[in-house]
Amino acid sequence: YPYPPKICCLGAGYVGGPTMAVMAKMCPDIKVTVTDLNERRIAAWNSSSLPIYEPGLQEVVEEARGRNLFFSTDIDAAIQECTIIFVSVATPTKTSGIGAGEAADLTYWELAARRIAAVCNASSNMSPKIIVEKSTVPVRTADAMAAVMAASCKGTDFQVLSNPEFLAEGTAIDDLFKPDRVLVGGPVTPQGHAAVQYLADVYRRWVPTEQVLTTNLWSAELTKLTANAFLAQRISSINSISALCEATGANVSEVAYAIGVDTRIGPKFLKASVGFGGSCFQKDILNLVYLCRQFGLPEVAEYWYQVIAMNDWQKKRFAINVVSSMFNTVSGKKITILGFAFKKDTGDTRETPAIDVCKMLFAEKASLAIYDPKVAREQIYSDLGKEVIDKIEIETDPYIACSGAHAICILTEWDEFKTLDYKRIYDQMQKPAFIFDGRNLINIAECQAIGFSVWSVGQSLKPLC
Ligand code: NAD
Ligand code: UDX
Repeated sequence: YPYPPKICCLGAGYVGGPTMAVMAKMCPDIKVTVTDLNERRIAAWNSSSLPIYEPGLQEVVEEARGRNLFFSTDIDAAIQECTIIFVSVATPTKTSGIGAGEAADLTYWELAARRIAAVCNASSNMSPKIIVEKSTVPVRTADAMAAVMAASCKGTDFQVLSNPEFLAEGTAIDDLFKPDRVLVGGPVTPQGHAAVQYLADVYRRWVPTEQVLTTNLWSAELTKLTANAFLAQRISSINSISALCEATGANVSEVAYAIGVDTRIGPKFLKASVGFGGSCFQKDILNLVYLCRQFGLPEVAEYWYQVIAMNDWQKKRFAINVVSSMFNTVSGKKITILGFAFKKDTGDTRETPAIDVCKMLFAEKASLAIYDPKVAREQIYSDLGKEVIDKIEIETDPYIACSGAHAICILTEWDEFKTLDYKRIYDQMQKPAFIFDGRNLINIAECQAIGFSVWSVGQSLKPLC
């Protein structure tokens, strides 16, 4: 393979953009081209207003863009020029057909595969290609990629690798600079091994060698689904215990801390919440569940499905609590939603618990005011549906959003919600004034002293009213 490699990526989204930007920053001699079908997205990557918000991303892009980092819609030219081709397109849950609601929709992924094959097929002396699955895919998807390539471009020497991405949104840049590990899976053949080492060497420029793991293809693909399933399982587990805490007088934060200091359990991903969101956890677990069914393992499928079922219940439980605490009716009452993103430090709302909670409160005929520091107004409209536009007030100031409200629901753990002037907010609310804290973020004693009726997930508080 040529040195230094030339790298491109199909898909300039939450993963393709930041991963390639960091790679370009850390390897100034490697040309990295990020491509997308979406012209607006590429134009945004080339502008001062990037298409996604991620702390530290702007600085990284500005340093490398135009030097060795390029954003382009000329996908074919990038495929032609590069040896390493990442595929980082979306793999959402199928909404229709076989496996609808569970299986991964591989439409974008296969179109990308066919595009690579077509470009390779168009030239009789194409340079060797290493195609890298960056998208999260079902186990054995690399086979399909290899089959598409083999069927339509016999002349090109190619290898298909799996290099799943473990970054989390909101901390993507730190995660990419200092990953716990980088995983590269490849075929167990001399050619496969050479391709794995070629890609691993790129990462070894800034990731310590012992953290660059290499495995076979299927292990790499399955590791990604398993890692997300384990992380989400911890949240569902602590959320299930949060319900028991509320019923018994235990405090979920104390329980989580006390189990987390056991080094065998560890402290992370034990924060009880209104439920997990984000584009990955639910989709990837459903994907795992579907795979288990396909491979004739219904018990394993059921086991993992419970992680989703518990999450759905937690979101529903939150909304039911709001309604029952407010004298069993929120009809016509103003409820303020603080935080709409699925977690702090991102403007992403994919699968955010806020969507479910808002829809349940709408069904109870509440009118909602929403404040989120990073989510765009149009995004909230698109998530909640046009029909509710006249029932929501979207504010850019949290105090205005809370003014005249009967209740506040904290659904995202934005740091700024910890330091709001809750006395000022209380004074402008209807009484009794309720706070439902889905993130265990406020100082309960202080808010109670102000006069609020407080509910906080996993805390055993006296009935609100
Ligand atoms: P995204 O929707 O933000 O970005 C995907 C991009 O691919 C879109 O801009 C789309 O226009 C583009 N695209 C589709 N088909 C294309 C083609 N043929 N050629 C070029 N571009 C094409 O998705 P994302 O959040 O970046 O996720 C991408 C993959 O990474 C998914 O499989 C996801 O599961 C996985 N992943 C996501 C995260 C995360 O935090 N978002 C983390 C780890 C892994
Ligand atoms: C996740 C994985 O962490 C990451 O490795 C993978 O690559 C993509 O999916 P992401 O969804 O971006 O990342 O964020 P994450 O920090 O995992 O949070 C997911 C959801 O779980 C959020 O809604 C978050 O608020 C919630 N969460 C997280 C909890 O409710 N409690 C916790 O203790 C941790």
